[in-house]
Amino acid sequence: MNVCFVTYIPLVILSRTSSRSNGLTPWEAGAVDIQPPLRMVIESGEVPWPKEGKALVPGCGRGFDTIYLASALGWKTVLGYDISTTAVAAANEFLKSKNVPPSVASSVKFDAVDFFKLALPEEEKFDLIYDYTFYVAIPPTMRPDWGKQMQSLIKPGGYLITLMFPHVPEPYKLGPPFWSSFENYIEVLGGANGWEIVYNKIPPPEIQSEVHKGKDRIVVWKRV
Ligand SMILES: C[S@@+](CC[C@H](N)C(=O)[O-])C[C@H]1O[C@@H](n2cnc3c(N)ncnc32)[C@H](O)[C@@H]1O
Repeated sequence: MNVCFVTYIPLVILSRTSSRSNGLTPWEAGAVDIQPPLRMVIESGEVPWPKEGKALVPGCGRGFDTIYLASALGWKTVLGYDISTTAVAAANEFLKSKNVPPSVASSVKFDAVDFFKLALPEEEKFDLIYDYTFYVAIPPTMRPDWGKQMQSLIKPGGYLITLMFPHVPEPYKLGPPFWSSFENYIEVLGGANGWEIVYNKIPPPEIQSEVHKGKDRIVVWKRV
């Protein structure tokens, strides 16, 4: 694994001056920490991430985690898709800024794409998809389609990282963010068939922000 920390410090500047401070996008950790559980699973050495691959972050928002993945994994193709052209414009603006080293920026591409309309031939499927708060942004009635898309877009042997937040004991009605539970992910991914769980952790409270304490779970699914 090629772990590169080079983007972290400049990213702090952005997080303090934009979304986090204006409170409009409270799910963002601020780029100083990216999402701590994502860093935990990528850098733990517990999952044998391939040396090269193609990754997707659907519902990428401003794309901090997308850029982190390109930097940390060192892969040449890391895509961030969002249906919102405003989000994609913000992500592209940051990507082009001097805060992102050219070697990382050249691996990342943000585009306005509806995840549910994405259809790829076998050879273009992904080695990794990372979902953080996209699952809880869509209405729960769309989750079976989310599961089918994950089945269809990840190649055999590829990985799905689900950072579940808010991960709650009981469903609730209002959202977004809508509720999530480990069992619900299993259900919409088609049961145990087709997936092996290779990482399944409740992040330790010391790496979580107050908002996330007790409400995160991170699971890595391997497509079999
Ligand atoms: C809660 S935000 C998560 C942003 C990002 N993952 C982050 O960590 O900051 C959910 C995002 O999903 C996007 N989204 C909703 N429906 C989508 C779809 N069908 N295809 C792609 N993106 C979608 C929204 O525009 C929004 O930016």
